[in-house]
Amino acid sequence: MKKKILVTGGAGYIGSHTTVELQEAGYEVVIVDNLSNSNLGVVEGIERITGIRPAFEQIDCTDKKGLTEVFNKYPGINGIIHFAASKAVGESVHKPLLYYRNNIVSLLNLLDLMPEYQVKGIVFSSSCTVYGQPEKLPVDETAPIQPALSPYGNTKQIDEEIIRDALNAGLPYKSIILRYFNPIGAHPSAEIGELPNGVPQNLVPYLTQAAIGIRKELSIYGNDYNTPDGSCIRDYIHVVDLAKAHVIALDRILENKSESRLEYFNLGTGKGVSVLELVYAFERATGVKVPFKIVGRREGDIEQIWADSRYANEVLGWKSVETIEDTLKSAWRWQLKLRENGIM
Ligand code: NAD
Ligand code: WQD
Repeated sequence: MKKKILVTGGAGYIGSHTTVELQEAGYEVVIVDNLSNSNLGVVEGIERITGIRPAFEQIDCTDKKGLTEVFNKYPGINGIIHFAASKAVGESVHKPLLYYRNNIVSLLNLLDLMPEYQVKGIVFSSSCTVYGQPEKLPVDETAPIQPALSPYGNTKQIDEEIIRDALNAGLPYKSIILRYFNPIGAHPSAEIGELPNGVPQNLVPYLTQAAIGIRKELSIYGNDYNTPDGSCIRDYIHVVDLAKAHVIALDRILENKSESRLEYFNLGTGKGVSVLELVYAFERATGVKVPFKIVGRREGDIEQIWADSRYANEVLGWKSVETIEDTLKSAWRWQLKLRENGIM
């Protein structure tokens, strides 16, 4: 009997790639997504890749009644991967209440319903943003959590504390909290990828849109940081490598592979790459020039962060494998597919 997994936000960027990996690992997936930052075409893309159309319910996770109906309609949900959230840092500064409501009430509803429906555990999408600018690099899971730099980052910190306190109170389930660094790239099939609404805030989608001519040029936010080439450093991880880690984390919970009821893992490549290095890696990988200019720093940007992912490597037996060049090639193939399909 296939184990049934609820994937909230499963029509989103990381959720869709994780759904593919879950299906390919033999899980039955039920996607719940309100399509606030995605579309149904993503579900078709998943089906084109795996040959299996995941169950899909257009429900808002802040709607507890709607979520309850999903648990009743799909009995026997064994585990949850909770991606559904609002995630635009800049927007969160202007709409804090929307972010607190969406990102916290959604989680509270799920944690409430889990014992009622005997769900064994939840994998939670967190972010390296909880570390702020770490004192020590690379950053491992023992690094201190720093005061959040945005309401978005604060919702991730609050959600992590909610899960911790729920488990300390004896609620009968397990959790693994995955702190992602910078996911980029797209599925090698180019059937799914990152499809930001409006003007991309993140580097790679903006870069590929500049490379294809949708944007006049990429603005690089500052080259006067205390880094080798002056631009900020991040840990860019292929979204498929990230997706695979979720299947391993879920297996770990459902097969009771750990004594701990709550674990945290940093999911990164362990390598820091600067903005300029990434631009040049893209040009080498694709043969396509990126029009760019250097502008002033972006408020709220931290200077440099990359993961010490040894704990995930050793305990989960997971390691990112894709090179930055191959990851950027996948992002470019996805951008070309969007053009081919007349989407942008
Ligand atoms: P995304 O916006 O592509 O996916 C999120 C999905 O959740 C979307 O399909 C959206 O429609 C849905 N959604 C939002 N609120 C919902 C609600 N209340 N009910 C149901 N569906 C809802 O984002 P993503 O990049 O795939 O991120 C997924 C998760 O990973 C988020 O929790 C995000 O905070 C976290 N994360 C993302 C990054 C990143 O750089 N992309 C980094 C660290 C952490
Ligand atoms: C990366 C680097 C920019 C755009 C954010 C969130 C984080 C997580 C991932 C949700 C930075 C530079 C960017 C551009 C640029 N999201 N840049 N020109 O800021 O590391 O992380 O997304 O959890 O919480 O903070 O990612 O892609 O926005 O920026 O120069 O047009 O690229 O300054 O140094 P970031 P990013």
